[in-house]
Amino acid sequence: MLIRNAPDLTENDVTPHEVYLQRRQFMAGGIAAGLGLAGAATAAPLAFKPSKWSTTEKRTPLDDVTSYNNFYEFGVDKDDPAKNAGRLKTQPWTIQIEGECAKPGRYNFEDILKTAPLEERIYRLRCVEGWSMVIPWIGFPLAALIGRVQPTSKAKFVSFETLMRPDQMIGQRSPYLDWPYREGLRIDEAVNPLTIMAVGLYGQTLPNQNGAPIRLVVPWKYGFKSIKSVVKIRLQETQPKTTWQMLNAREYGFYSNVNPTVDHPRWSQANERRIGEFRRRETLMFNGYGDQVAGMYRGLDLRKFY
Ligand code: MTE
Repeated sequence: MLIRNAPDLTENDVTPHEVYLQRRQFMAGGIAAGLGLAGAATAAPLAFKPSKWSTTEKRTPLDDVTSYNNFYEFGVDKDDPAKNAGRLKTQPWTIQIEGECAKPGRYNFEDILKTAPLEERIYRLRCVEGWSMVIPWIGFPLAALIGRVQPTSKAKFVSFETLMRPDQMIGQRSPYLDWPYREGLRIDEAVNPLTIMAVGLYGQTLPNQNGAPIRLVVPWKYGFKSIKSVVKIRLQETQPKTTWQMLNAREYGFYSNVNPTVDHPRWSQANERRIGEFRRRETLMFNGYGDQVAGMYRGLDLRKFY
């Protein structure tokens, strides 16, 4: 990553959720009205059902989830996305699904929302930089979307791309990453029941800084695999190139499974700081999702395929 200092505790860490929501609703209305921002997304409530895959761990306060972000399209500092992402227009939105499938096409967001009932998935998110959060996502299994387009037997991998729009994504005016942001999964990882496309968090549509209107969430992998604001999905026979691998293949592998026993070349991955907590905690193999995912990597040397 383009590393900055670890965060210090802020007032945000102690703001109760209800107080935050009131403040946020007030601000959202005020800012949108005051500036006349056309297309500025205001959070809208979503209907969803709970999921058996959710953790019961304490959720990271909404204020932190929406103000401490990595979204390099909007800048490299943690508070840049919250400051700059309001300019992104997320309506209309389409995802181009192409490659090895019977039903390729350009699917609009409203149609994609009908793919499967929305669920709440309270997942741990472990960033490769050594911090973590617990986020109540709202989304649906990626497997359902892939099923809709009927993959062929040649669909061995899935690649994803974020929107390219430098006039609204100011980070894209600088070439510190090779835009657009790209990620990829093996097909079995993509259709694993834990893998979701998220469209909301904390019961509301996604804030822009968290990847509105739709992003991937793969909870057993480092956070950078969970690509935001997706506009393209491609089913393919060969392993796709990913943004971080292209930047530095020695530091960022294709798999990027959370693994406390394989260190990043520049720092240990053995423990992490849960945002809002003081004492570091041990990082769990596969971020604690081993029961659901370890079988996919049986026989694979996780040191080599990091
Ligand atoms: N997706 C895009 N398009 N651009 C990014 O810079 N950052 C990644 C990932 N998805 C990133 C992205 C990283 S490093 C992390 S840790 C997570 O998003 C952070 O997600 P969050 O801000 O919703 O917590």
